[in-house]
Amino acid sequence: MNNDSKKLVLRMIPYGIYVLTADDGKGNVAAATVNWVTQTAFAPPLVVVGVKADSGAYKILKDARVFALNMLGKDQKNLAFTFFRPADVADGKLSGQAYRKGETGAPILIDAPGAIECRVTAVVEQGDHHVVLGEVAEAHLNRPLSGRPDASILEMKDLGDNVFYGG
Ligand SMILES: Cc1cc2nc3c(=O)[nH]c(=O)nc-3n(C[C@H](O)[C@H](O)[C@H](O)COP(=O)(O)O)c2cc1C
Repeated sequence: MNNDSKKLVLRMIPYGIYVLTADDGKGNVAAATVNWVTQTAFAPPLVVVGVKADSGAYKILKDARVFALNMLGKDQKNLAFTFFRPADVADGKLSGQAYRKGETGAPILIDAPGAIECRVTAVVEQGDHHVVLGEVAEAHLNRPLSGRPDASILEMKDLGDNVFYGG
């Protein structure tokens, strides 16, 4: 395989930007910016996320068995960069961001325009990122959207010419 072609062609896949959150109920709260996300079924509503197998977020998510995907808005590049680093909880905030507990206990970022809460139904343990399958249990619209919903989300291409995750 030509590695340069592999990298470029895989980087043609467009991605939205999300903050994956989870709370194991034992004092460990995860929040990580992710892009490897897609819906895979209508009934029940299912999504998959590719989660770095050696990350703190993955460990907490596996224990919690529930997670949230907080959709970032077009103007929330700063939040994407905040959650590229390991998250910390201080003064009731997650890396400085206000949040509340969702129905499943997963943290919902107050400033994200929307979020879904998911129950983990399967994990495919292959590669350096594992595929986490989640059934959508709750959805939150934190503020009204205008236009197409998929035009409201922050995308990988909005993060700058040199930011990629994939390839
Ligand atoms: C542009 C970009 C996209 C990322 N996408 C993912 C992803 O899809 N899945 C993932 O597990 N990590 C992804 N990461 C890495 C996580 O953001 C990072 O591992 C995490 O925030 C570190 O915290 P943790 O070790 O506490 O989980 C991405 C990083 C960058 C810079």
